[in-house]
Amino acid sequence: MSVGLPVAHESAALHVTGHALYTDDLVHRTHDVLHAHPVCSPHAHARMTRLDPAPAHEVEGVVRVLTAADVPGVNDGGVKHDEPLFPDEVMFVGHAVCWVLGETLEAARLGAAAVEVDYEPLPAVVSLTEAIAAESFQGGQPVVSRGDVEHGLAGAAHVFSGVTEMAGQEHFYLETHAALALVDEGGQVFVQSSTQHPTETQEIVAHVLGLASHHVTVQCLRMGGGFGGKEMQPHGFAAIAALGATLTGRPVRLRLSRTHDMTLTGKRHGFHAQWRVGFDDEGRLMALEATLTSDGGWSLDLSEPVLARALCHVDNAYWIPHVLLHGRVAKTHKTSQTAFRGFGGPQGMLVVEDVLGRCAPLLGIDPLDLRRRNVYVDGQATPYGQVVRHPERILAAWDQVVSTGQIASRSAEIAEFNAAHPHTKRGLAMTPVKFGISFNFTAFNQAGALVHVYKDGSVLINHGGTEMGQGLHTKMLQVAATTLGVPLARVRLAPTRTDKVPNTSATAASSSADLNGGAIKHACEQILVRLTGLAGDREVGRDITWDELVREAYFSRVQLWAAGFYRTEGLHWDSTAMEGHPFKYFAYGVAATEVEVDGFTGSYRVRRVDIVHDAGESLSPLIDIGQIEGGYVQGQGWLTLEDLRWDESDGPGRGRLTTQSASTYKLPSFSELPEVFNVALLEHAHEDGVVYGSKAVGEPPLMLALSVREALRQAAAAFGTPGTSVDLASPATPEAVFWAADRARSGGADHVVVGLPGAAPDRPDPAAPALHPRSEQAAHESVEA
Ligand code: MTE
Ligand code: MOS
Repeated sequence: MSVGLPVAHESAALHVTGHALYTDDLVHRTHDVLHAHPVCSPHAHARMTRLDPAPAHEVEGVVRVLTAADVPGVNDGGVKHDEPLFPDEVMFVGHAVCWVLGETLEAARLGAAAVEVDYEPLPAVVSLTEAIAAESFQGGQPVVSRGDVEHGLAGAAHVFSGVTEMAGQEHFYLETHAALALVDEGGQVFVQSSTQHPTETQEIVAHVLGLASHHVTVQCLRMGGGFGGKEMQPHGFAAIAALGATLTGRPVRLRLSRTHDMTLTGKRHGFHAQWRVGFDDEGRLMALEATLTSDGGWSLDLSEPVLARALCHVDNAYWIPHVLLHGRVAKTHKTSQTAFRGFGGPQGMLVVEDVLGRCAPLLGIDPLDLRRRNVYVDGQATPYGQVVRHPERILAAWDQVVSTGQIASRSAEIAEFNAAHPHTKRGLAMTPVKFGISFNFTAFNQAGALVHVYKDGSVLINHGGTEMGQGLHTKMLQVAATTLGVPLARVRLAPTRTDKVPNTSATAASSSADLNGGAIKHACEQILVRLTGLAGDREVGRDITWDELVREAYFSRVQLWAAGFYRTEGLHWDSTAMEGHPFKYFAYGVAATEVEVDGFTGSYRVRRVDIVHDAGESLSPLIDIGQIEGGYVQGQGWLTLEDLRWDESDGPGRGRLTTQSASTYKLPSFSELPEVFNVALLEHAHEDGVVYGSKAVGEPPLMLALSVREALRQAAAAFGTPGTSVDLASPATPEAVFWAADRARSGGADHVVVGLPGAAPDRPDPAAPALHPRSEQAAHESVEA
């Protein structure tokens, strides 16, 4: 049994020795490669009035300039037909208007600088608040509704209202976007792409080139991180490379520099939420009404499904009888925001955690108790109608964290510490995670695989998923070895390509092991049925070896390879009513985080983290623990460090991303790792109906980091008098924490205005003052008896 063993990542040795090949490494193995460089818009919004590529041709080494006139097919790089590949209206600073091909990257860069472009600047909407005020929206405006919110609020003992804002996040995968395109003698286009979604890359390349899909093959060796950023965004780059290759007959390489990657490509959506919430006297949630507005950027990309997932996760792990959630996507003149680990789930969950964190002191209830008493119990359903199965696992994980994390004694120690230290405060918070597994869009929940058993008994597998470091390939090798009953070393895996397994879904939604694992298992089982039929009474291993049986099968003309297919059963989703059973199951987890905040500077340390996470019957425990640690730290980065800033001034730089590199954009590094970091997998967590009882693990742990934000809030509140409700900006950078602590200290804490019962929360209150330069969070909690 390979499944369940703590094996190393299948490429670990290659990763650490630098031998692992990524798309751009192939350039050095390819002859005659041309390099592509973009000509980028300096304006956030403008009409292009003239484009003259001629001066570029004067530059030595420039081979060709690609413009809209070169596109034989559809001039669009997306699936929504709102992303012209060569635009005539630029929609954000950095928007590429054309691409220059050169013998060297430097020649292409100089050529791009020589291209002459005239623009007629147009008004630009940059911030989310501006977009809301201007009613600049795009796409559908879904509503999730259950019960009667007005009735629920009217019956509630305590009603609060507020605004919650959160920033986006740069993916900062180590490998930037890359594509290398070749054309063979028959006109077959072959694109190596750093893509989470090879099939869609293939489709976009085909439609840009005006070809049928069978003319285009896309391969992805592996990615140096994707995190959702390569789910939709690689297509246009692959199409540019492919277009260049078809026009010049030479291989074309497109690899973004870090600055270009940060300037040109989409990020996690920032969100704005306005809410009203009601609690009963015991602190039980009675009703929640909220309007969530995401910052979609210039085009739709994946903003609608991201919004849908956000709305489906506002409840997080909590039962709320009456719910009314409105969602909308703002259109702004920024990069087109896209998938990012959690896919809107983190943003939805941040809303309810922010609500609970801010209301707990006003209710006079310890946040730990407030959260625990609202957790789902058996028989309850989510606001969109899916029954929450195994909710007792949330409490099992909770109680395990409480006991192994010694939460009670540490809470007492923290209270003592805080009483003794006027300028340093500690906080300890626990938050749960409930994350729906499956693509909301039912059709995507299918996968294919190809399993070859060679005459010598060795096995080669191929499946539709891509490897981005998450360990999918390792798990698939384990599944194949286990199903066939051979040692792990007998199985190899070939790179993902669209001519092996067609019509694949994106490697996303954390479901790739479930889906592709199901397909691999199906393929292996077909082979196994044939082999055991041939073996008859002979038992493999005892009476006949695997190798002998395989050899015998070949000579008996038994087919030794199979294609596998898997579809997740039992799913349905009505995207208009926002109702159904979109998820096969929920992944659960609980985290406790302790922080220490310095009152003079707002700087902080993460002293200790305890996590119990539900990965079902883990396929690969080392991989899963790595995913949990990595997910938590990436979430910690989003919530505490990573501070995307756009120039919102009226100056010439308006709309420019001012944090364009690692020097201005702070990522988590070793120094921010929790000093004590305990991660355990929930036991007795077999999940029926999923491959070998496992559960998806890729995204859910990111949201465990909400506990660090809540711990920082509590530490900041400890600078004030007990019962202080603290409004903390997201990201909770040291600066933001300083201001939060400062408000708590000055007693004024949150700006409190008397809420208007029945006021529609669908518009931000323009009169609400910004509390400090960064937070812009107008907290106007109001307590009504
Ligand atoms: N882990 C690593 N190391 N690198 C990544 O890019 N992406 C995350 C997660 N874990 C990612 C990662 C995201 S956004 C998703 S959806 C899942 O992995 C996708 O892979 P899975 O479906 O195999 O879990
Ligand atoms: Mo992950 S955001 O679903 O690629």
